[in-house]
Amino acid sequence: MKTPNMLDAKKRNQNKIEYTSYNIDLGKFGNGKKYYVRTYGCQMNEHDSEKIKGMLSSAGFVPTEDIMNADIIILNTCAIRENAHDKVFGYLGVLKHMKKSNKDLLIGICGCMAQEEVVVNEILNKYKQVDFVCGTHNLDNLLSIIKEKMDTKKRQIEVLSYEGDVVENIPVIRESKYSAWVDIIYGCDKFCTYCIVPYTRGTQRSRHHEDIVSEVEDLVKNGYKEVTLLGQNVNAYGKDIYNDYTLANLLEEVAKTGIERVRFVTSHPWDFTDEMVDVIAKYDNVMPYIHLPLQSGSNKILKLMNRRYTSEDYLKLYKQIRSKVKDSSVTTDIIVGFPGETEEDFEETLKLVNECKFDGAFTFAFSPRENTPAAKMTDVIPEDVKMDRLHRLNEVVNKYSNEANQRMLNKIVKCLVTGVSEKDENKVCGYTENMKLVNIDGPKSLIGNIVNVKITDAKSFSLDGVYVE
Ligand code: 5AD
Ligand code: SF4
Repeated sequence: MKTPNMLDAKKRNQNKIEYTSYNIDLGKFGNGKKYYVRTYGCQMNEHDSEKIKGMLSSAGFVPTEDIMNADIIILNTCAIRENAHDKVFGYLGVLKHMKKSNKDLLIGICGCMAQEEVVVNEILNKYKQVDFVCGTHNLDNLLSIIKEKMDTKKRQIEVLSYEGDVVENIPVIRESKYSAWVDIIYGCDKFCTYCIVPYTRGTQRSRHHEDIVSEVEDLVKNGYKEVTLLGQNVNAYGKDIYNDYTLANLLEEVAKTGIERVRFVTSHPWDFTDEMVDVIAKYDNVMPYIHLPLQSGSNKILKLMNRRYTSEDYLKLYKQIRSKVKDSSVTTDIIVGFPGETEEDFEETLKLVNECKFDGAFTFAFSPRENTPAAKMTDVIPEDVKMDRLHRLNEVVNKYSNEANQRMLNKIVKCLVTGVSEKDENKVCGYTENMKLVNIDGPKSLIGNIVNVKITDAKSFSLDGVYVE
């Protein structure tokens, strides 16, 4: 049994990161068994689930949509805020009942919660229905853990406190045939004081650019229209392994593969260079959509958060992006109720939001996370004040996202049609270049294609449109 230690995680591994290739072949021990994977959290987790499914399939397991039919259920978890935890623990309660009717059912936990000491201790003591826990750093070892559990019937807990190697060629089953996630950098070294990610995902590790580009070239050959380059902080790409190769170079190389759309998330303002803005502006197939977390508009709070920029720095970068990248849309993340946030600090945030007029914003109430510096700060903001600020912020944020959508009215825009609309099964849906969701009046045969759509109606969170030939 290997359990996590958050203090070790902070210290980082002193050994050099190795680049290896996936080579686990334990035979088809999953033949005849069905799997169900449930994903919580960010796009990195979505993509990790695609790897979990790929590895399970390589051992003979087959997918099932019906959880009641599953022989193995894996929860790929998120630790970013307390409510993510609550959802998983709540769901484990439901699964306990399923185990009563199916004694052979296997339940496993992967993802960021698996990296937390308190969570693993709680699972060991209280959640006996969990058969195995596999951390983020050794995800490539998942099949060995499952097989060991099946062979020995003993509970398996294997979580490393230190980041593992960069493992290429892990089998993957992608959700979409048109749009693919591509990892470019794992981990984060920023240590924003509220954030658990540097502990659960380890130090920054960039993939080699040759491996990334060859993955994108294969995707192009297989008919993919869009790739989204993934990292907790994509702007730090390359800093750990190259002297003069950055996200700007990578975006350029990926754009030149001929893939029709290139996206990237998430950006950190501190690492965002002029060259990066210029490359985004220069290539038509680098999409004009930037998710640029602000977190707070108050310099005092930004400092306490260890964000390394001021509101003035942020605004300067924001204006540069808006002026250079044609028809761009910019979204953001904001936390309210960080320890020490006064009404004046909060008003500074509102002021910046009023100035930037974001296309959209994900807003969060501060949630203290295990072992992070902010969790130990004393000037705690009461829950009711946090909720009041969150509501006031959301009102302003929604006003601007609605206005941004209204500006799209009557325009003819390009959409990548991704599937049937969730709102109306007779319609399809897709995303504009600047990442707005459109419900489209058009035939199902459009799915998988980039087509022209005339925008006919604009709501706060989506657009309506009609296909034009
Ligand atoms: N409390 C509230 N929000 C948080 N985020 C990260 N950590 C916390 C926390 N402890 C938010 C940040 C980040 C987004 C992914 O989640 O805004 O950008
Ligand atoms: Fe967390 Fe900050 Fe790293 Fe983003 S940049 S993952 S908020 S530590």
